[in-house]
Amino acid sequence: MIFRQLFDPVSSTYSYLLASRKGGEALIIDPVLERVDRYLQLIHELDLKLVKAVDTHLHADHITGLGALRDKTHCITVMGEQTKADVVSMRLCDNDKLTIEGLSLDVIYTPGHTDDSYSFVLPDRVFTGDTLLIRGTGRTDFQNGDPRAQFESIFGRLLKLPDSTLVFPAHDYKGDTVSTIGEERAFNPRLQVTSADEYADLMNNLKLSNPKMMDVAVPANMNVGMNQANVMRHGWALTAQQALSVVGLGDVALIDLRENAERQRNGTIPGSLHVPYPSLEESIGAGGMLHELASSTRKRLLFYCAFGERSAMAVQAAHDAGLPLAFHIEGGIDAWKKAEGPIGH
Ligand SMILES: [Fe+2]
Repeated sequence: MIFRQLFDPVSSTYSYLLASRKGGEALIIDPVLERVDRYLQLIHELDLKLVKAVDTHLHADHITGLGALRDKTHCITVMGEQTKADVVSMRLCDNDKLTIEGLSLDVIYTPGHTDDSYSFVLPDRVFTGDTLLIRGTGRTDFQNGDPRAQFESIFGRLLKLPDSTLVFPAHDYKGDTVSTIGEERAFNPRLQVTSADEYADLMNNLKLSNPKMMDVAVPANMNVGMNQANVMRHGWALTAQQALSVVGLGDVALIDLRENAERQRNGTIPGSLHVPYPSLEESIGAGGMLHELASSTRKRLLFYCAFGERSAMAVQAAHDAGLPLAFHIEGGIDAWKKAEGPIGH
């Protein structure tokens, strides 16, 4: 596995780049906007293809690099389903898997620091966001934080992992880089409590000042959705209502870009082909399945995904690949359902 821990000294944030092999797909956890060029350089140097940019939660102390990385690499942005961010390409739930080629991380919902906090688990390590820090825990006094929920997330979920599990947090202010579950259970001063009430008392009396960047970072991080003006301007976007009248026509090929887990959870639009977003490039290239459909059989390609972000990028990519009859459903299957479009399983 390729694993890099990257540090932003301004916000003391750790970001993590993961891949299973040189030349393969990569994902990044908790990227910081100001460090995006550094990440891109490293991704290039390691010959990786960034396919997912993930935030453990909505950050209050730095602006996320999710939007910039998506705009520069066309990767998928990922957060938990509770996030208040306007649009992320994919939303995760408790017990989901976060996957890229050769790697699968278990997704666990660990609220408390915020109500959208998640941790991601590999067999030997866990990325804890701000839920569990090294000899500390993330504050619980804003963004719907809840010390009792955090107690449950830490004691009920994270500390159930094997003692040898490496702990990689989203921040450290003292220069520590990694810990283990066993070490934190024994030596983390916040965890030397016997009940949720005792923990809540401790957390409610920390008297911390707000993060310096909070008034800038929180609104910015809630507006990470892609600017789709270009797709709209060219008339490549159909509202769900408009899509209802063209789905099923003989010259329309409907293409679902989501992953299997999303399809199983949320259903599909009947009659759609499945081309997962990471394989799009190959499929729209010369000789690819979608390329053939669009050029030989003159089908109109109608892409959709979860919230309309992957599909907007797909439309642009199809046009760039010389396929002029490509469109997408604005707002994805989420909007389709609100328009009462039929759903199959
Ligand atoms: Fe945080």
